[in-house]
Amino acid sequence: MYCTRNITDDIFWVGGSDRRLALFENLFPIPRGVSYNSYLIMDEKTALVDTVDSSITRQFLENVYHVLNGRPLDYLIVNHMEPDHCANIDELMLRFPDLKVVGNAKTLAFISQFYDLDLEGRTVTVKEGDTLPLGAHILQFFLAPMIHWPEVMVTYEQKEKILFSADAFGSFGAINGNLFNDEINFDRDWLSDARRYYTNIVGKYGPQVQAALKKLSGLEINMICPLHGPVWRSDLGYLLEKYGKWSTYEPEDKAVALFYGSMYGDTENAVNILASMLAEAGVKDIAVYDVSSTHVSTLIAETFRCSHIVLAAPTYNMGIYPAMQNFLHDMKALNVQNRTAAIIENGSWAPVSGKLMREVLGEMKNMRILEPALTVKSAVKSGNLESLSALKDALLDSMK
Ligand code: FEO
Repeated sequence: MYCTRNITDDIFWVGGSDRRLALFENLFPIPRGVSYNSYLIMDEKTALVDTVDSSITRQFLENVYHVLNGRPLDYLIVNHMEPDHCANIDELMLRFPDLKVVGNAKTLAFISQFYDLDLEGRTVTVKEGDTLPLGAHILQFFLAPMIHWPEVMVTYEQKEKILFSADAFGSFGAINGNLFNDEINFDRDWLSDARRYYTNIVGKYGPQVQAALKKLSGLEINMICPLHGPVWRSDLGYLLEKYGKWSTYEPEDKAVALFYGSMYGDTENAVNILASMLAEAGVKDIAVYDVSSTHVSTLIAETFRCSHIVLAAPTYNMGIYPAMQNFLHDMKALNVQNRTAAIIENGSWAPVSGKLMREVLGEMKNMRILEPALTVKSAVKSGNLESLSALKDALLDSMK
């Protein structure tokens, strides 16, 4: 049975949610599920904006047929060619023999890479700013390369001023009936997943996001329809401010997050003591994460949120404790920058993790490393307390 929602009188959400998938991209835990949004515009011509993941094809097709109500599908707009959105192109082309697929040159090249489809006479190639009239609704296309694939474009519907934004402005999380941002408590229930989605999927491409935001800033936008998560029809400034911060690597909060790896609890002990010292000094909302038991996508999201980070790790095989090494690798890959960091190392006979963590942080842009770095030899002793206190003071000074 169909399950759709009206976006406007003539535009319909025909997507669906997957609450079974454990790992998005086989990488990222999604305990709240994920939605794959697709939008159908009914006018003199009918146009579908993107398809969905193969996991929800059955629901999607029921939705599309219900809204079409016997009419054919004339256009499929392909804003993004990642399989969580393009998985049903071939199915739709088979079912609607007159369907034209609309994309840019890179889109169409990717279709041929993924599928053995005869595209002859079945495509419309669009360039930056091109328009496609459907009747009262006119679609306009803007290229948004590397958000987060090279073929990505966004589609602007001129009549109702709706931006179909591809992955941009998306979030992990299934749609629980409530599709619109004004039907949910976004700050309470969605923000951390939206941040985790953005920072891990798109975080590397801040300059490209900035370029797209600048390009689109001249458009009057009433609604943002992303490919995942809620549709935004109010308070767009809130969302744009978040994206502005994330894409310029500006911290959202003046806050400290302490990340530790700890084999037997001793490095953790150092972090707990430092966190308590900070709390005694009045620092609020301190976050502490065990890098071994917290998924790295959460660690990355918190690194984007917080202005100050503390990295604490044992030396392991004359290197950095593997879970911390993995976190640092992701930080660098995702372009994390502009943070103030403190370092705590542990090592029973030849501690080097501090030096090595410092080197990796030095390869990132504009990372300020606080002194003193603290070395714990096996377990925290009273002789370490002075250094921990000094580190606390350095953190406090840098937060002023
Ligand atoms: Fe949701 Fe880049 O695919």
